[in-house]
Amino acid sequence: MGSQELATPSLDVVDFSDPDLPIIIADLHDTMIEKGGVGIAAPQIGVNLRIVMFGFEKNERYPNAEPVPLTILINPIIEFLDDVMEEGWEGCLSVPGLRGLVPRYKTIKYSGYNENGIQFNRTVSGFHARVVQHECDHLDGILYPQRIKDMRSFGFEDELNINNEKNEL
Ligand code: NI
Repeated sequence: MGSQELATPSLDVVDFSDPDLPIIIADLHDTMIEKGGVGIAAPQIGVNLRIVMFGFEKNERYPNAEPVPLTILINPIIEFLDDVMEEGWEGCLSVPGLRGLVPRYKTIKYSGYNENGIQFNRTVSGFHARVVQHECDHLDGILYPQRIKDMRSFGFEDELNINNEKNEL
């Protein structure tokens, strides 16, 4: 947080046959797994392209979150299907040690391309929708603290009394 790279909007992927693309995707995956994240965006590894990755199996660390399939989403577009929002705790690999309560649209439709340039879309809600909104914000140079409405709900993970919300987005 504070780096110019993370505050800069990213560029569309235009060539899905670029040999750098699988290298970037492998780097995203390795970084996400190594850091224990459930999502990551290309600007977080210093790549100024509109690529995000997210997904996890249900496990003991995330007892409250439904599993999200491992997904590579390129040039994403998010459609908000209604005005319903809900607040939830978020952390971020680029904002280590901190957590904040962030309002997000509850249900969204997202579309984009996979690593092979195949277009797809999904309509999702809850934590899945939250992860996608958080990661796509990275592509616009936005970090979750900018979305917090009440700064009293922002602080160090060790100080906040949050149960079972250890997700790093
Ligand atoms: Ni993040």
